[in-house]
Amino acid sequence: MANEAFQLSDSAVTAYEDQKVKAMFGPLARATLAKIHVTEKDAILDLACGTGIVARTILEQVAPAKPIVGVDLNEGMVRKAREITQSDSSKFSWHVANAENLPFASGTFSLTICQQGMQYFPDEAAVLEEIRRVSAKNAKLVITVWAGASDFFLAMADSVGRHVDPGIGEKYLAPFSYRNIEQLPTTMKSAGFKNINVERIAVDRTMVNIHSSIKNEILGHPAGPKVLEAGQAVVDAIAADIIAACTEYRRGDDMIVPQLAYLCTASAG
Ligand SMILES: C[S@@+](CC[C@H](N)C(=O)[O-])C[C@H]1O[C@@H](n2cnc3c(N)ncnc32)[C@H](O)[C@@H]1O
Repeated sequence: MANEAFQLSDSAVTAYEDQKVKAMFGPLARATLAKIHVTEKDAILDLACGTGIVARTILEQVAPAKPIVGVDLNEGMVRKAREITQSDSSKFSWHVANAENLPFASGTFSLTICQQGMQYFPDEAAVLEEIRRVSAKNAKLVITVWAGASDFFLAMADSVGRHVDPGIGEKYLAPFSYRNIEQLPTTMKSAGFKNINVERIAVDRTMVNIHSSIKNEILGHPAGPKVLEAGQAVVDAIAADIIAACTEYRRGDDMIVPQLAYLCTASAG
């Protein structure tokens, strides 16, 4: 299911920001930034930026002289990023665009970060070539992509499959189904990158008050509206199944589930 287009309705964008970004994309952005060196001189591209958590986390840590640029294909995501950052609007520049065809001059950026976007690009080589085009010489590229599904998402996919439809259950594993990690360094090299390194990092997916947050997690997925069509009782039953399957991760009313990601770094040749 990798390479599926990632499109979300406005309500799903809000659920994405309120639930998924807090639970996991925020922690992943912090874990990634702890591994790399960002300076105020960097010209930064947050590619497939979603609601802009990478760009926002960078601004918490450094104050780049140039606005941090965020690009995403999904208008709702970009609208939300703009809305969240409106009090700091001069520090960011948000764009709706396809990663294969970026609206920037060659050599613009010294750092591109693509957090959990790679698995949605139908033509990964074309995106890497486009990133190389907009990168200055020796610019850094940082890519993260999930390294398999955690027990939490395996339980979610299984329960959605049983209560709604196996095909829809499978969609919940799509973000974790990136199969090109072995090939990625070769594709990056062909696109003009060097010093390529792939390592694994772990982040904790923290769900505060599982009785509400797990339902938001189910509905914050692109397939969430399909599950909701089956009725609120079905959503409640899926949430109950997940809680029963993940007792070892319970911390009172909260849940902490470890999730592995690949962190790939390179520089533009
Ligand atoms: C899982 S989200 C990650 C968003 C963000 N990086 C974060 O960490 O919250 C994947 C994002 O990739 C975007 N995306 C998918 N295909 C794209 C493309 N061809 N060009 C630009 N963005 C794309 C989706 O719209 C979505 O916002």
